[in-house]
Amino acid sequence: MSSIMSLAKAYEKYFKIGAAVSCRNVDGYYGLLEKHFNSITPENDMKYSETEPQEGRFTFENADKVFDAAERLGIKVRAHAPVWHNQTSPWVYKDGEKDASPELIYERIDAHSKALCERYGGNVYAWDVVNEAARDDDKEGGDPVYRDSEYFRLCGPGFIEAAFRSMDKYSPDAQLFYNDYGECGPAKRERIVSLIRRLKDRGCRVDGFGMQQHYFTEPDYDELKRSIETYAALGLRLHITELDISLMAAVNRSDRRLKPGDPGFDEYIREVMDPTPEKLAKINGIYVRLFEVYRSYSDVIDCVTTWGVADDYTWLDFFGSDGSRPKIKQYPLLFDERHQPKPCVEELIRAAQ
Ligand code: GLA
Repeated sequence: MSSIMSLAKAYEKYFKIGAAVSCRNVDGYYGLLEKHFNSITPENDMKYSETEPQEGRFTFENADKVFDAAERLGIKVRAHAPVWHNQTSPWVYKDGEKDASPELIYERIDAHSKALCERYGGNVYAWDVVNEAARDDDKEGGDPVYRDSEYFRLCGPGFIEAAFRSMDKYSPDAQLFYNDYGECGPAKRERIVSLIRRLKDRGCRVDGFGMQQHYFTEPDYDELKRSIETYAALGLRLHITELDISLMAAVNRSDRRLKPGDPGFDEYIREVMDPTPEKLAKINGIYVRLFEVYRSYSDVIDCVTTWGVADDYTWLDFFGSDGSRPKIKQYPLLFDERHQPKPCVEELIRAAQ
């Protein structure tokens, strides 16, 4: 392992440095985690379908592995996304053949939260209680604020409130976060603000907002600052929860994430198949500028988590791959495929001195 100093130590006076891990990779990353990170988030292992695939049948083996690693590391966990429209088993929404009533869904959320907290509560310092419930900007029709999910179709915004109330009851000492993406776009930002305001107006404890910060285009640093200020003005603590910078951000000339079939996608694929030093340097440069912004708001930002540890495994390896295409490397993290710090890590450490 390289001899540079610890990133987490260098940032102690600003915020925690976290990473998403899974039961399958946490041991392989142990050395890097021990040296450079002081927070971990289970990438998938605490999601609803992973932990309760059938009603009342709890499967904690995978999450246990992440919590075991956290215990060995001597740190607490940033727990992630029990209530989300994805990775939730269909039974949650059903009552036999019929749709489940809102009350039944709230009871299920309550039982699920209770089970998670009984097992892990004392080792969790923050929960992403609800993930991604605000609607996206680019969809026609629907509710002006909320995502048209199965939860929303059956319960309206009540499921969000139910989730926060249950988590507050069972995890009174952990901080409770609402987490979302696209959080720096002005229209979505307004939706997220309305969603959180309503929760607070209805007496729910919301301690913080999780800014996911997945970058597929070059960041708009002014919008980032405006967003941090807007969310902080709601009286919230902020965590950067899922930071990564896709190679797309270095080559994508449009202002949105490109998906298979979008105009420009094929050109993009050609470009990322050729990850030149200039393109990789651009990702480094974006990290340096983003951290400069995060440091300047360290009075409200308590944690910066990257969505993965090193480039040998990231969810982006599979993103935009339609099966017939080769795996697309995105180089989105702070450590390379050989677990070595990228040049920006040294720059980030220097800038924190
Ligand atoms: C979202 C979720 C994460 C994860 C990523 C993709 O951002 O919040 O849990 O599933 O998508 O990996």
